[in-house]
Amino acid sequence: MSTPIKPLVAGNWKMNGLATQVTEFAALVDGYSGMEDKVDCMICPPATLIAALANFSQESTIEIGGQNCHASATGAHTGDISAEMLSDAGATSVIVGHSERRADHGETSEDVNRCARAAWRAGLVSIICIGETAEQRKQGITLDIIGEQLLGSVPDDATSSNCVIAYEPVWAIGTGLTPTAQDVADVHSSIRQSLVRRFGDEGQQMRLLYGGSVKPANAAELMGVIDVDGALVGGASLKAADLLGILNAYE
Ligand code: 13P
Repeated sequence: MSTPIKPLVAGNWKMNGLATQVTEFAALVDGYSGMEDKVDCMICPPATLIAALANFSQESTIEIGGQNCHASATGAHTGDISAEMLSDAGATSVIVGHSERRADHGETSEDVNRCARAAWRAGLVSIICIGETAEQRKQGITLDIIGEQLLGSVPDDATSSNCVIAYEPVWAIGTGLTPTAQDVADVHSSIRQSLVRRFGDEGQQMRLLYGGSVKPANAAELMGVIDVDGALVGGASLKAADLLGILNAYE
């Protein structure tokens, strides 16, 4: 029998947050206190706030993550950031392959695979994002797309300790739309099956997050779906009260 997976609620602040946003983090640290045993919590702020939040979170078990990393450790890549730099600033994880990176920066699954391995090189956990577009869902090819992205983006030496998978349907991100619980169950079950086929027990134990318009009002239903081991939250992670409302789904 496999051990139960401890859920993780991770907030992706995206390109939001000036120094003043640290007060929301402080409120989150306060509110999260006492929930540590039931659910893990992480914030992925813009790179400019990683050090400040990591410093602050020493009083808490809230982890800090980056939002992307370059595949190389150093070099002539103006404006990029390496996994080693994220780690140096206090991050313990990094999101790779978010659909906004795939769309805005043309990142392919091959690129994402390289970034995931870069994260491991620096000792970070990689949170690998996959998800279909509205058009692909309409065409009925969601599971094919998910399968392809999973195969291409997740490196062969992924384990349940170094890798988290986040299913984020592109059409649900920032739109207020969410798949039905049954749709989420179908995709997560398909992800689980392909991870188990490829990685055995490690695939069984890997955390699978759902992301896309998760809010306090829908968190309990979405987090209650089998094989959903937590959430990757965008907009609702910017306010401590909202993220705490989502974390409360595990109370
Ligand atoms: P929203 O929660 O704002 O829909 O964003 C989801 C997301 O992209 C998290 O990475």
